[in-house]
Amino acid sequence: MNIVILAAGQGKRMHSNLPKVLHPVAGKALAQHVIDTARSLAPEKMVVVYGHGGEVVRSTLNSADILWAKQEPQLGTGHAVAQALPEISAMGQTLVLYGDVPLTKASTLKRLLQAGKDGLSILTVNLLNPAGYGRIVRDAAGQVQRIVEEKDATPEEKLICEVNTGIMVIPSSHLADWLGRLSNKNAQGEYYLTDVVALAVAEGVPIHTAQPDGEWEVLGVNSKVQLAELERVHQRNLADAMLVGGVRLADPNRIDVRGELGYGRDVFIDVGCVFEGKVELGDAVEVGPYCVLKNVKVGAGTRIAAFCHFEDAVIGPDGVLGPYARLRPGTELGPEVHIGNFVEVKKSKIGAQSKANHLAYIGDAEIGQRVNVGAGTITCNYDGANKHLTIIEDDVFIGSDTQLVAPVRVGRGATLGAGTTLTKDAPPDALTVSRAKQISLTGWVRPQKIMSS
Ligand code: UD1
Ligand code: CA
Repeated sequence: MNIVILAAGQGKRMHSNLPKVLHPVAGKALAQHVIDTARSLAPEKMVVVYGHGGEVVRSTLNSADILWAKQEPQLGTGHAVAQALPEISAMGQTLVLYGDVPLTKASTLKRLLQAGKDGLSILTVNLLNPAGYGRIVRDAAGQVQRIVEEKDATPEEKLICEVNTGIMVIPSSHLADWLGRLSNKNAQGEYYLTDVVALAVAEGVPIHTAQPDGEWEVLGVNSKVQLAELERVHQRNLADAMLVGGVRLADPNRIDVRGELGYGRDVFIDVGCVFEGKVELGDAVEVGPYCVLKNVKVGAGTRIAAFCHFEDAVIGPDGVLGPYARLRPGTELGPEVHIGNFVEVKKSKIGAQSKANHLAYIGDAEIGQRVNVGAGTITCNYDGANKHLTIIEDDVFIGSDTQLVAPVRVGRGATLGAGTTLTKDAPPDALTVSRAKQISLTGWVRPQKIMSS
């Protein structure tokens, strides 16, 4: 089986410098959705037809299993498929997909391929408003005769509600012959792929149709309006699948998954959260409202409060995070770690039961177990040229407003007094304080404001 993906169209109505098929749905290019679905059908050959100026399409989507065919100029869908002929095999079936129709399910395409086993098959839908689409013309016995484009249709043909989705399976052995016989003598002056249907009928090749489970499967993108509509449809489908899978969502219309979201049992997600890349939520994880998680693994039982932003982080079980916590790449938190409001952690390991509950920056640090990081603590990891490591061993207590000037080590069980600027290692089990002795001046008078006359 060959798959040909048409992606040469310009997409003028997108009003964008980005080629249409590279616009994202759920964070992934339209054509990438199509390629991924196509790949799941294990075709022998997969050809993407790209257009003039489409080098960025090619470089963005490139992968070893994709063959490329350039169509320049663009003379219609039939002409587009013809450009792929040198790349495909003349055996079996050829499935034609559109690079701007991203959500067709693999199961629907399998059904279409099955229907077309002994001939040609067309994916059709019945639309209340068929305007703009090619219509499926059947004879009195209900046999498909041909497809007529809107612009070439008679008033009677325009009343037909069964339309061509554009997705079609054609016997490969006939393809070169039929495409070679297409004419562009029609309203648009284009070589229509749809005209192969009449040629097949004339040769007695059986024509079949199949329908998708949902109309959204065959919706294409021509404008930002349609792109936004498709995004919502797709997100709602993803949310519904999560509900079916046992996740509790505060509102299935207010969640965005732009990647892969894995989850255990009894997970709860509040409104407005965005999940990007690969995210895994363990059993009973709770995610509060308006959190952004990108490439994050969250251990079972961890609770994330509102407005957190986590990226490339691994979070242990039974953690308590946020609100307003930020975990940056390279963060690894052990079990039962607490990270509170306005705490930023970068490229650091924090051991079990350690806490940084308020206003801190922890970067390039290794923190042991049961450590308490006081409010306002900062690891001064950067000397203006290089990054240095801060090591804080188990059971350390760090007083508020402490600066740890790295590289520096705080020994097991040590206490740092509030306001300490630590520039040398602190020994274990001792109190280390760097601030000046507190003094009080009696009889000291505050400066007075000078009154102008
Ligand atoms: C096509 C069908 C129509 C169907 C409709 C469904 C034809 C003649 N008509 O019409 O029956 O109802 O799709 O949406 O096939 N493309 C190229 N090169 C070209 C022209 C198009 O690669 O020279 C690609 C486009 O990028 C797009 C797809 O083919 O992905 C469809 O092209 P478009 O112009 O949107 O087709 P329609 O005229 O809408
Ligand atoms: Ca067109």
